Order: sequence, then structure tokens, then C-alpha cells
Amino acid sequence: MKHLDIYDVLNDKSLLGKKVTVCGWVRTFRDSAQVAFLELADGTSFARLQIVVDKSKLTLDPECAKNGASVCVKGEVVKAFKGEGAELNAEEITLLGKCPPEYPIQKKRTTLEFLRGIPHLRLRTNTFTAVFRVRSVAAQAIHRYFHEHRYYYVNTPIITASDCEGAGEMFRVTTHGYQAKASSEAEYYKNDFFGQKAGLSVSGQLEGEVAATAFSKIYTFGPSFRAENSNTTRHLAEFWHIEPEVAFAELPDIMEIAEDMLKYVIKAVMDECPDEMNFFDSFMEKGLKEKLHNVVNSKFGVIDYTDAVEMLKKANAQFVYPVEWGCDLQTEHEKYLTEVVFKKPLFVINYPKQIKSFYMKQNADGKTVAATDLLVPGIGEIIGCSEREADLEKLVSAMKARGMDMQSYKQYLDLRVFGSVPHSGFGLGFERFVMYVTGMENIRDVTLFPRSVNNIM
Ligand code: 4AD
Ligand code: MG
Repeated sequence: MKHLDIYDVLNDKSLLGKKVTVCGWVRTFRDSAQVAFLELADGTSFARLQIVVDKSKLTLDPECAKNGASVCVKGEVVKAFKGEGAELNAEEITLLGKCPPEYPIQKKRTTLEFLRGIPHLRLRTNTFTAVFRVRSVAAQAIHRYFHEHRYYYVNTPIITASDCEGAGEMFRVTTHGYQAKASSEAEYYKNDFFGQKAGLSVSGQLEGEVAATAFSKIYTFGPSFRAENSNTTRHLAEFWHIEPEVAFAELPDIMEIAEDMLKYVIKAVMDECPDEMNFFDSFMEKGLKEKLHNVVNSKFGVIDYTDAVEMLKKANAQFVYPVEWGCDLQTEHEKYLTEVVFKKPLFVINYPKQIKSFYMKQNADGKTVAATDLLVPGIGEIIGCSEREADLEKLVSAMKARGMDMQSYKQYLDLRVFGSVPHSGFGLGFERFVMYVTGMENIRDVTLFPRSVNNIM
């Protein structure tokens, strides 16, 4: 169908006075003696287009006036009666699809929780139009950032035989039927599709390191899978993961890259999505725009894990989980540090080695690793980052200490045999980033079809 985007009709001043065709879904209908008004949305713009129907010239099919109906409208673009934009004086309105009254998206504000039950229709609301516009703009900006900085975009495998982050979180990939019997685990997988145990990747890092030790600067942007039983507002079983990996970079270098990249993307979202950001600022998180403006214009905080633990122990706050050196920081601790103490994004660096992954560079103190989590107010961790252990012996000893199967990491170890280099990388959870820039509080509301424990609608 030849037609224009509503975005163009609202924004392109050269269309004033011209005859155009638009298509979309009816959001509201108002009637009076001489004129009727339809508000039409097609998803290309946060603002809707007002269609003005002069009843002396045009008889409106009542089906076209129903909330949710899809229509095609021909008419003349005129300056809006109110405000800056444009509206359309209708000359012909054609019904494309009827919408019966049981349509669950009604004008009165429905709750996000209710909308989670209708993932196939909720995208037609203002909130979700805004969320997914921001998500799309942010994804484009991430690619642009890395492209402009001469990173290769690589695609790492989704099906893998090696576990990057440690045992117990991987979904199995198998073609065996439910009644398959075997005498042992090895025997069971020997007859499986790959002839060995395979799963969905929790991270593209290990293969990313392979690419970085050839191309120097790479990133991945793809799905990662976690079978962790965390039914929280920040966890998904399937999430999108941005993972740059940079050769010849040490921890401070990669932290600088992470900060620069985040600021670039936040700025792009604020510049390219003004209507959406105004909406979030008014309805989701008061002060959101000011918060993001400050993030772009100030340095992120940095604190050593050991100092953070001391600070938490002295804190005038009631924590459910007690804090001791060596413990993993819980969300409540992360929130205290970013929301109460620093009030901005915060890198916590040099974690105890026993709570972090095998591949992280061991610091000279023998107790900590050159790793950092970036914590942000309202969410907690959005980035996991580290310098990688480039020393073969140290890496092997860390793997042995964890009882890992060396055979399946042969290629990874080879990177330390043939021209090993210092290198670092990080993983940004894309949905958590979108939550941070929109003020949305539940990760299920920034994902088209969220997958989480007991939920695969
Ligand atoms: O901290 P994580 O587990 O780090 C890694 O996977 C590293 N291999 C990354 C790297 O260095 N290349 O995960 C990185 C980020 C987290 O900070 C979080 O934002 C996100 O991925 N993430 C999740 N997001 C949603 N649901 C989950 N279940 C997530 N698990 C991790
Ligand atoms: Mg992490």
C-alpha cells in the first residue's frame, strides 16, 4: 500500500497542504455535531496523528471509529489547530480491520502487570511504543559506537560445549527423547546430536577472546542464556548481551571504554528520542532526564571491593545479608553503594578471586582479581568486566582449583601458548541498560517476549 509514515506527516513541513495517505490503528475517537476526531497511531512516532472528519462532507463508517480498528486515511495535511504539528483533514477513510469491543487495550490506563499477560497486543500502547523505540535506537547507537571506533562485529556461537561463567547455569541442547536411557552421563551424551554434552551459551566471551587475539578490537551483540532460577525483576533466561573484547587493554583501559560507550549511547537516546524520554520522565521515573544528563557529564565512581566492604560494614543501614570480606555483594549492598553513597554509576574493582570466574587476571596480592562490576542506581549490576588471565600457568591453576575439564578448553588455553597478550573485555546486559535509560522497573517490560522461570508465553 502506498502511504506515508505518521512520523513524516507530523514532522515534514513540506507536506503541509499536500494530499497524503496514512495507515494505522485508531487510538481515540471524539464526536461532536459537525466534526469528529480520530487519533491514529502507526508506531513510527510517539505522537499520534489527529484525523479531522468534516461530517458534512464525509460519512464515517462506525467501525472505523472503534478503538483498535485499523484504517487507511486519505486527506490533506494542515497545520494543527493546537501546537506545532500537523493534522489531517480526511477525504476518504477505509476500514482495514474491525476491532471488537473485547479488545483488551482500553483507553483507561491499564497496569503493566495486566499488559504482561497480552504480550502480542501490549506493544500498541504508548509505553511500549516508547520502550521499543528507545531499545532500537540504543541498539543502533551501540553498533555505531563500535563501528566508529574500528571494532569488528563478530557473531559467536549460540550452541556451545564450554561453559563460560561456571557450572549450573546452562540450558542443555539435546535431541534425546524424554525416555532416553544410558548407563552414565558420558554414555548418554555420546549418542546425542553433538556426541558430547552441549548447551546454550551464557556468554560469547571465550570465542570473543579468540577473535580479539587476531583483530585486536571486537564486539558481539547477541543473545545469552542463563538457566539460573532467579525470579527477579532483573533476570531473564534469555537476554541480549553486548560483549567487547580488546587486546592490549588492561583493566583501567577497558573501564574507560565501557564508560565512554555508555555515555555515547545514553546521549544518542536522549538526542534521538525526545518525546519518548519526556514520557518516561513524566510517567516512569521523575527526574530521569536530569539523572541521565548528569551521567553523561560526570565521571563514574570507582571503589575497591575491600573499601566497599568496609563502607558497608559501617553503614547505617539494615541489610538482610551480612557483609564480610569475601562475600558476593547482594543487590541490597549494590543499591546502597550506588543510590545512597555515590548516587551515580560506580565501578567496584578488585573482587576476591573465589567469588569470580576462572578467566580473570589474578592480582599480585594473590587474593583478588582484576575484575569490576559496574553498578547503577535503581538496578545494581549492568556490566561484568575484567582483564583476562594471560599467563598460561596461572590460568591452568585457577581452572584446576575449580575442577574444570581442561580438554574442552584446549583452544582457549592455546591463546596463552601462541603469542599471549594482555586483554580485557566486558558484558553489558542490554535489557538492564534499557531499564536504566527508560526508568522501567521490570525487565519483562523491556523485552518483546520475556523468557523467565515458568514463563514462555
Ligand atoms: O556478569 P556476567 O555474568 O559476565 C559475563 O558473562 C562475562 N563473560 C562478560 C564478559 O566479560 N564478556 O554478565 C554480564 C552482564 C551482567 O552485568 C548483566 O547486565 C547481564 O549480563 N546479565 C543478565 N541480564 C538479564 N538476565 C540475566 N539472567 C543476566 N545475567 C547476566
Ligand atoms: Mg556479573
